[in-house]
Amino acid sequence: MINQIQNIEKEISNYHINDSADVEKFRIYFLGSKGLIKGLYNLLREVPNEQKKEFGQRINQLRALAEVKLSTYKSSSPQDAQIVNEEDLSRPVGEDNLGSHHPLTIIKRGIIDIFNNIGFSVSEGPEIEDDWHNFSALNFPPEHPARDMQDTFFIQKGDEEIALRTHTSSVQVRIMEKNQPPIRTISPGRVYRNEAISARAHCFFHQVEGLYIDEGVSFADLKQTLLYFAKEMFGEKAEIRLRPSYFPFTEPSAEVDVSCTICGSKGCNVCKYTGWLEILGCGMVDPNVLDASGIDSKKYSGFAFGMGIERIAQLKFKVNDLRIYSENDTRFLNQFKSAL
Ligand code: DAH
Repeated sequence: MINQIQNIEKEISNYHINDSADVEKFRIYFLGSKGLIKGLYNLLREVPNEQKKEFGQRINQLRALAEVKLSTYKSSSPQDAQIVNEEDLSRPVGEDNLGSHHPLTIIKRGIIDIFNNIGFSVSEGPEIEDDWHNFSALNFPPEHPARDMQDTFFIQKGDEEIALRTHTSSVQVRIMEKNQPPIRTISPGRVYRNEAISARAHCFFHQVEGLYIDEGVSFADLKQTLLYFAKEMFGEKAEIRLRPSYFPFTEPSAEVDVSCTICGSKGCNVCKYTGWLEILGCGMVDPNVLDASGIDSKKYSGFAFGMGIERIAQLKFKVNDLRIYSENDTRFLNQFKSAL
């Protein structure tokens, strides 16, 4: 019998307990009603009386050994550990879960801040527009190609044809219809065009429209405002140049380039070795547009401009593929955490 006790002692010590299922197996095997230790107690009946005390004590020790091992593993099993973790309210918050602003949001807010500082308010308009606000009031002739199905997403609503706005210039009209000068506002928002999606074009993107209407507003005011913007956005060394252009809603019109901040105007593949990068369209609001929107064109004049947020983001962050802005790829988005 002494041999049996010693063997079971070794077995208890060497028994590997990995999980809660093992804990239960251990209990049944050694301490259960048909377990090894119970078997030893049964054998005790056959032991001569004078040896019963000694053997009884050895079996009690063995049972204590098994019980201690059992209770140690019970309180440290992974399941129990998890319960402790869930209840530990003093644990520090995992920083990994913090998100970041989208790069387009960062640029949009930057543009808003710059214009807020010189007295421009922020206004918004609907993304689903009618022909009047998106085209007619902006002096687009009926046969203008931008109205074509190939550029514009049209939606049939009963007899009426409505459109997804193709530019934020539609907000200009809505603002002028509801307010009299002085008007000084910028309108950020999403716009839609029926384009095949590629690295350089997308069926939706974002613009910021600017509008300033008052008595005696001149082209010089426009130029100076845009120079201020370029320096705030791209740095004190930034220069701008204006190239004559055409938009139905402005006269005269211009496209604006900013000096290439990447190569310091020396010429690189981003500015295509010209030293200049195109950033926006602008001009003096056409008197037809003022009149169509309820503003007296004999008394007031004004300027307007429109820029793509993706374009500014592309120049600031050197991201060349437009598609990545709407793919929700956290490997891309996480890189903007430090830009908060
Ligand atoms: N709406 C034009 C576009 O989407 C951008 C634009 C050009 C806006 C000239 C203006 C402007 O306000 O004056 O390409």
